[in-house]
Amino acid sequence: MIVAFIQTKGGVGKTTLAVNLAVERYKRAGRNVLLVDADEQGTATDFSAVRSQRLGATGFVLHQVTGGGVRDQVLALRGSFDDVLIDAGGRDTAALRATLTIADTVVVPFQPRSFDVWTLDKVAALVSEAKFLNPKLCAYAVLNCADPQGQDNLAAAEALAENREISYLDAPLGRRKAFPNCNAIGLCVLESPNPDRKACNELIGLAEKLFRTEPRPSRR
Ligand SMILES: Nc1ncnc2c1ncn2[C@@H]1O[C@H](COP(=O)(O)OP(=O)(O)OP(=O)(O)O)[C@@H](O)[C@H]1O
Ligand SMILES: [Mg+2]
Repeated sequence: MIVAFIQTKGGVGKTTLAVNLAVERYKRAGRNVLLVDADEQGTATDFSAVRSQRLGATGFVLHQVTGGGVRDQVLALRGSFDDVLIDAGGRDTAALRATLTIADTVVVPFQPRSFDVWTLDKVAALVSEAKFLNPKLCAYAVLNCADPQGQDNLAAAEALAENREISYLDAPLGRRKAFPNCNAIGLCVLESPNPDRKACNELIGLAEKLFRTEPRPSRR
């Protein structure tokens, strides 16, 4: 399955979700995972370097690619992996458009704030255009940095009701220090020395809804 993390807005959690789910997939689901860093910023690559230094290996294969080359390179590699996760960066780029032509699913993280909600219409237009070339494409919006309480989460989810291209996936992640703390040391929240149970459960809940597979024991 090819899952891409996209948003034309920056800083919404694309890389955080991509790297955490890459680790979750191989550790909990025993999948052979390719993590593609298609963002020129190279944050997923930096995470992988820190991880590799800390653990000796990442557990997934990292492939860095920029521009439209993402399409041919991922198509050439995908047969060797169970799951391909693509961090497609935070702007409307050639890499993002190429990613949309090959993904099975796109995850569009958004925060429960109007500026984020407004960008979803722009992302929906890109998804709609990509479907001419890639009719199987499914797009899900996932709330990230959700509020612990209040009406804003619900209002943000409801704002999607009229979006014809992007469905709301009810697996929100709260704003939790565990995510930046673990990002900084190359770990998934599931691997933290002091795991934040809520962050772990939210990540697992998202993975299970997104991949709809039963966890299997790790191969490693
Ligand atoms: N659920 C969360 N709780 C707390 N902090 C978070 C959460 N998700 C992401 N962050 C933090 O928010 C910041 C932005 O996240 P991230 O880099 O993953 O976003 P991005 O969409 O990949 O950004 P860019 O567009 O720059 O690539 C990071 O500092 C990250 O650690
Ligand atoms: Mg990023």
